Formats: sequence, structure tokens, C-alpha cells
Amino acid sequence: MVEKGILLGGRYVESQEKIDVVYPYTGEPIGRVSRASEDHVYNAVELAKEGFKQLSSFTSYERYSVLMRAAQMLQERAEEFARMLVLEVGKTIREARVEVQRAVQTLIFSAEEAKRVGGEVVPLDAHPNGKGKVGFYIRQPVGIVSAITPFNFPLNLSMHKVAPALAAGNAVILKPSERTPITPLMLGELLVSAGIPPSAISVLPGYGYVGKAMTTHPAVRVVSFTGSRKVGEIITRQAGIKKVILELGSNSALVLHKDGDIDKAVAKTVQGGYAIAGQVCISIQRVFVHEDVFDLYLSKLKSAVDNLKVGDPMQEDTDVGPMISPSEVERVQEWVSEAIKEGAKLIRGGVACAESKALLEPTVVSLVPESSLLFKEEAFAPVVVVNPYREVEEAIRGVNSSVYGLQVGVFTKDIDIAWEFIKKVEAGGVLINEGPNFRADHMPYGGVKQSGIGREGPRFAIEDYTEIKMVVWDLGP
Ligand code: SIN
Repeated sequence: MVEKGILLGGRYVESQEKIDVVYPYTGEPIGRVSRASEDHVYNAVELAKEGFKQLSSFTSYERYSVLMRAAQMLQERAEEFARMLVLEVGKTIREARVEVQRAVQTLIFSAEEAKRVGGEVVPLDAHPNGKGKVGFYIRQPVGIVSAITPFNFPLNLSMHKVAPALAAGNAVILKPSERTPITPLMLGELLVSAGIPPSAISVLPGYGYVGKAMTTHPAVRVVSFTGSRKVGEIITRQAGIKKVILELGSNSALVLHKDGDIDKAVAKTVQGGYAIAGQVCISIQRVFVHEDVFDLYLSKLKSAVDNLKVGDPMQEDTDVGPMISPSEVERVQEWVSEAIKEGAKLIRGGVACAESKALLEPTVVSLVPESSLLFKEEAFAPVVVVNPYREVEEAIRGVNSSVYGLQVGVFTKDIDIAWEFIKKVEAGGVLINEGPNFRADHMPYGGVKQSGIGREGPRFAIEDYTEIKMVVWDLGP
């Protein structure tokens, strides 16, 4: 059993109330952390004011050096972090190792960006009133950033908020998911050991009221949230006058055109549809396949999914681990049953495994009506829906019929068709001959429509975590 307190201004404090952390595969508790209250948020904000003063007085090079040291320390403890990720999230050990390596990269990219928080000259004399004036702007840290993160990547999605915010010189208050608070606490400890001023970082495990206090506090200048659309809407309404960055859900689409590489599309669907039991915002949920290759793709997909090893996430050869809880498995089973009642065809899966109530057999459903929840809402589960199309326009319409718009993958060899998709799909990213689940940690990542506001990736996050200050200098008498 791992026991941890609340990391308040870089130092642990205990509270009477506790949160049990459960291993999704067995349902057994593996840890217990102190539960934060609103008062902890107010204390964290007061400490963060001091932490901001200290960190913003570091030179860019000093911030770079501290974050690079943190990256090295994380690399040295990679296996320890990976094993804790398996226990908290239930993701497989191979997936957990990838998450740790991605978090190292996110830290390194953030460290490098610390050196580039610059400005730009504005040629004021380009304006009729600008004669005799010079102008430029600088970027300054906003001060205090509230970061609220989900259970699926407790380390790397926390890193995507914390590391760029610190790189720009801000103090950060992080509320991880109450289901997976241990690795974010370990991350906070590590950053302090690497040299981040303790008061510049707090990690507050807790429920919605903690998030609400972090969102509404007037001293907080940016709220960065990754999670559900529903909570994103609440945060937007509560935040008041401050920047709100939202990375919300999606029911991401992959399109396979008749000239696309079928085997590659199948391999990418398997990897992008079932990784982390489908609990990824850009997990492949809807596949649109040209009718000429529909049957072939579906039979190849079924065989490939039949070969996945489902089970104990600590085993090196397990491909698909449990979902976060048995109730999530039940929810998705209901969605699948509802789609079948509405005319969809179950190709495989749809049932829980005997071994663990949190394990859902990787599921493939075809001919799913657009009106069903399984098509239009975010499943966040190991379920892939496969529907046919005839005309390119029909596939584009199907993709865009979603309220979400995060990333879309298109498989075709025809550059004109690829360009049609690039121009017309409503999404934050289009991937050609790649699954929509691809993400390199320095690329701009985020959505349009109900998938969110703003972009992550350290360089882009730093734009949100800094304010532009314009300087106008009159040179005349
Ligand atoms: C997410 O699920 O929001 C992030 C996906 C990723 O970083 O790969």
C-alpha cells in the first residue's frame, strides 16, 4: 500500500479525509492519499504567489536546467513510475512505459521552450500615427496556473500542463483525477527535488469542489483542463475573467479510401482503437471504409482483434488491459446493446471477460446508425464502429456529423482526396496514412467544436501561459 499526503507548496501535509486508490484489474486498493479541501486550495494559492515570485526571477537558462534535471531524474526512475501507472490506471506495462518516455520528452521540449519565451518587434511606423515610435512586445508568465487532469495519462497529461507552465515561470496548482493521484504526486516531488521552488507547485488530490475552488479563485489566471465535455462546460461557466484551456473528448474517425493501404489501416485501427482499453481522447471509435474494400477490411480487422491478448496488465505480452472500473464496462455494454437494437451488427466482443469485471472484450460493431450513442458520443472504451461509404463527400459528412473535432486519420494514396479531407474536416488535426490517435508531444494538439479550446504541446501551451506586454517607445522630443 502506498500512502501519500497532499503536496502543498512542495511539502507533504496530511488530512483526515482519505481517498483509496484501486487497481482496476483486481478492484483491490493499492494506495491511500489525503483528500484536499477548499482550504488547501486557498493555502496553495497563497504559497503559489511566493512560488511565482521565486520562479519568475530564475533566468531562462536556470528554468531550462532544472527541467532538464527533472527529465533525467524521471528517466532514471522510469520503471518505478511505469509500474505505478499500471496499478493506478490498469494500462498495460508496455503502455505505461511508453507514457513515461513520452513524459520525459514533454519535459525536455518544455525545458527547451524555456529558452525561447521571447517577443517580437512591431514596426509602429507602418501606421500613419506611428512616426518616431518604436515598439516591441515581450511575453511574461501569467502568474498562477490551475491544471486539472484525467485518469488515462496521469503522468504525461499532467506533464503537458505543469512543465510548460513552469518553463514560462509560473506557479502551478495541479488537481489530478481522484482515481489516479499517486503518479502526479510523485511528479510533484520529483520537480521539487530537481530544483523547482517548493511553493511553485502543489498537487491536490480531491473531487469537484477542489477543481471548483481552483477554477473560480481570482488569483488564478489560467485554468487548463483535460477531461469530459460536461465538466469542461461547467468550468467555462464558473471561471470568470481568466483564460480557460480545454482538451475535451472525441469520437475520432479513421477513413479508409478504396486506394488506401488496408493492412496498414487495420494495424493502425487495432493499435489506436484498443490501446489503454480505448480510454484515450483520440482513440479510434468510428471507421468509415469505402464500400469496395469494406468486407475485406472488416474481416482483416476481426482476425487482428481476435489475436489480441486481453488480461493482466502487468504481463509483458498483454495487449489490452481493464477499463478504469466495472461500471464503465457496463455503460459501454448498454451502448452496444442499444446500437444493436437500432440495427447495428456485432462483429465481435461486447461482453466482459470472466477474469475481471473491468475487462471488456475488444469490440467491433458494424453498420451502426448515426443516431445511436455508440456513434455520436465518446465511448472511451475498446470499441470500434465500422461503417461503409460510397462518395468522398459522404465520408467527410460522416466525420463532421460529430459534435467533436479532435483528430482524423485518412488512408489514401490520392493527394487530391487527401487535400479534400485536410480542407474540409472539422478537426484540430488531420493525419494522412496514420491513425487519428497519433500524437508527438511537441506538436500542436487540441480540438475544434466541443473537443475544446486551445492547443497543447509545450510551445503552444506557453503561449497560453504567458501574457503579451506591448512596449511603445516614443523617440521624439
Ligand atoms: C488524451 O487522451 O487526451 C491525450 C492522448 C495522448 O496524449 O496521446
